[in-house]
Amino acid sequence: MRVVITPDYESVSKWAAHFVANKILEANPTPEHKFVLGCPTGSSPIGMYRELARLNKAGIISFKNVITFNMDEYVGLPESHPESYHSFMWTNFFNDIDIDPKNVHILNGNAPDLLEECRNYEKMIEEAGGIDLFIGGIGPDGHIAFNEPGSSLSSKTRIKTLTTNTIQANCRFFDNDINKVPKQALTVGVGTVMSAREVLILCNGHQKAHALKHAIEGGVNHMWTVSALQMHEHGNIVCDEDACVDLQVSTYHYFKDKQRIEGLLEHYIDMF
Ligand code: GLP
Repeated sequence: MRVVITPDYESVSKWAAHFVANKILEANPTPEHKFVLGCPTGSSPIGMYRELARLNKAGIISFKNVITFNMDEYVGLPESHPESYHSFMWTNFFNDIDIDPKNVHILNGNAPDLLEECRNYEKMIEEAGGIDLFIGGIGPDGHIAFNEPGSSLSSKTRIKTLTTNTIQANCRFFDNDINKVPKQALTVGVGTVMSAREVLILCNGHQKAHALKHAIEGGVNHMWTVSALQMHEHGNIVCDEDACVDLQVSTYHYFKDKQRIEGLLEHYIDMF
């Protein structure tokens, strides 16, 4: 696992954006061989999306040959609702880049047959050739997408009931009214994320410190679903100093030494 520790949210965002941009450039996608990107929502990726949009406007990267698959969507929330993940993605990213709308995939939480919607989503990922890079955030309880504690680590796209913890954490987006927060979501599985050829997790802030500790230092455990990343051949975490406060001093120093020796931090921060 590669762990890169940056000073703050801004540098997490910049590092992540340049990492993603570099992967797309390296792949040199064409209409026949598109780059397939897995996208998260939440506050963590907003800065990264902003920087990617800037790189797109500056002509450094293009999303014309990029296909996206989002991680999750609430069940029963209209797509037009400002807090739906559809609204989030268009407002915070897709409206600002040159992506072809037909290459955007987001689960439909209002589909008449939700199980069929999930099955079909997995099929579409497969037909696209699998996901090249899945980007994710993590919940304070270590969940990835909406794979709440106790989720199967080999799970695929399905319906999940949200934990009280997640509902409370997401209350801030629904006028702090717990009754307004949807109680279920459609989500890619841990197995779906782990099937990607590469995974990048963004983690910032003190409130994520406990989750980061479990992701890196705990055992692989379905109570901290992000810990499945330990089994991935190409797993990356980019985090800020605040998120590292629960790591052992030796773990923290090892990753700092590693990124210094390998030039990992500067490489991506100063790339574009
Ligand atoms: C929700 C999303 C996750 C996201 C998490 C953290 O639960 N389903 O995909 O990682 O929130 O969000 P934030 O980045 O706002 O902390």
